[in-house]
Amino acid sequence: MRKKIVAGNWKMNKNLADTGVLLSELKVKFKEQPTAEIIVAPTFTNLYYAFEELKQSGIKVAAQNMHQAESGAFTGAISADMLKSIGVQIVILGHSERRAYFGETDVLLAEKVKTALKHEMTIIFCFGEELEDRKSGNHFKVVESQLKNALFDLDASDWKVIVLAYEPVWAIGTGETASPEQAQEMHAFIRKTIADTYNTETADEVSILYGGSVKPANAKEIFAKPDVDGGLIGGAALDAESFAAIANAF
Ligand code: G3P
Repeated sequence: MRKKIVAGNWKMNKNLADTGVLLSELKVKFKEQPTAEIIVAPTFTNLYYAFEELKQSGIKVAAQNMHQAESGAFTGAISADMLKSIGVQIVILGHSERRAYFGETDVLLAEKVKTALKHEMTIIFCFGEELEDRKSGNHFKVVESQLKNALFDLDASDWKVIVLAYEPVWAIGTGETASPEQAQEMHAFIRKTIADTYNTETADEVSILYGGSVKPANAKEIFAKPDVDGGLIGGAALDAESFAAIANAF
């Protein structure tokens, strides 16, 4: 049975003190382990602190990115080995903001995926169409190409540590959430694409998260869809009450 997951992508928010406040609140909120696996992704400067703070809780910690190289002259970058050395086993790759603001391409992301797999990390792989893609009816083609270019060279066995996060760019941070029907339609397409490329068993085991303006008010309906296995949450993850309400929306 594939996992239900609710992950909070904190993006470039929360200094050390504010991270401590939110982590303390989350530890209280998640004293009882919810149905879903809970993951938080603070910024790099607070990752080790978060890992230590959450060690005894059921909450897992993820990095928001990592470099594809093992080490070297890449000023400002963070390697998989560095993340593993502080206990971080999960990394978000391919977020639309990395693609848009830092020029990350499918080819580069394929390299990052391979490096993360080599270090036995779990990958939350993000992808999703722009508004004009959807308006022109190209959204399925765009999503299929993002998946194929970055992930479809992998062996079926690699997919055990791949979590997909479908995040329509037009829904991120806009309050324009995809409808539950739109989310289900795309998630079902994604799962069928994986089944056609690999096999049904692999496709059925992959957790596919929805991201893009998930809030406590809409989470239940979206998460109730058969091919939606949880969410990747941005803004609402910065508030313990909202994040807990979403995490308990199954
Ligand atoms: O990675 C999750 C994020 O992109 C969604 O952001 O603020 O629309 O929940 P938000």
